Amino acid sequence: MATKTNIALIGFMGAGKTTIGRNLAKKINFTFVDTDDEIESRAKMSISEIFELHGEEYFRKIESEALNSVLSRENIVIATGGGVVKNKKNIDKMKIVSTVFYIEATSETIYNNVKNSTHRPLLNCPNPLEKINELLNDRLELYKNSCDFIVNVDKTEVDQNVESIINIINMRGE
Ligand code: S3P
Repeated sequence: MATKTNIALIGFMGAGKTTIGRNLAKKINFTFVDTDDEIESRAKMSISEIFELHGEEYFRKIESEALNSVLSRENIVIATGGGVVKNKKNIDKMKIVSTVFYIEATSETIYNNVKNSTHRPLLNCPNPLEKINELLNDRLELYKNSCDFIVNVDKTEVDQNVESIINIINMRGE
């Protein structure tokens, strides 16, 4: 049985997976990998362009391929896209080689973090807060059921969130 040498961060868009992941990787001397970057380099276009030209289904296919390739590496911190949990196979594979943390945030925190950005096609709509509530509602159980641990980030800074993850890992002796 493979050992869990990787740390995977799951959670909604804008919860802070990338920032937390990058800082965490630096602190524990792991390599940081963002599956969204991997998807863009595979598809040779931006995520917005993938959605626009090929639609969400095609995006999800590339997302699974990108994840599979990333999971073959060791000692990495992976920031995943918010929709990765929609495919159970993604989670099953991730869990074999990774300890999975759900970066949990309320829709208000998320909205505050994403309101000035334009690179998330699913939130490019007239009422992004409503869309966040709707998607979060749909995915909440998936996030909770897919993770090993939950780190809530509503009232804490990046450094504290990174420390929480490190403490949990150390407690587990991984
Ligand atoms: C998505 C999240 C995005 C990106 C794509 C779809 C989603 O990643 O993969 O826009 O379905 O939640 P982040 O969570 O890194 O923003």
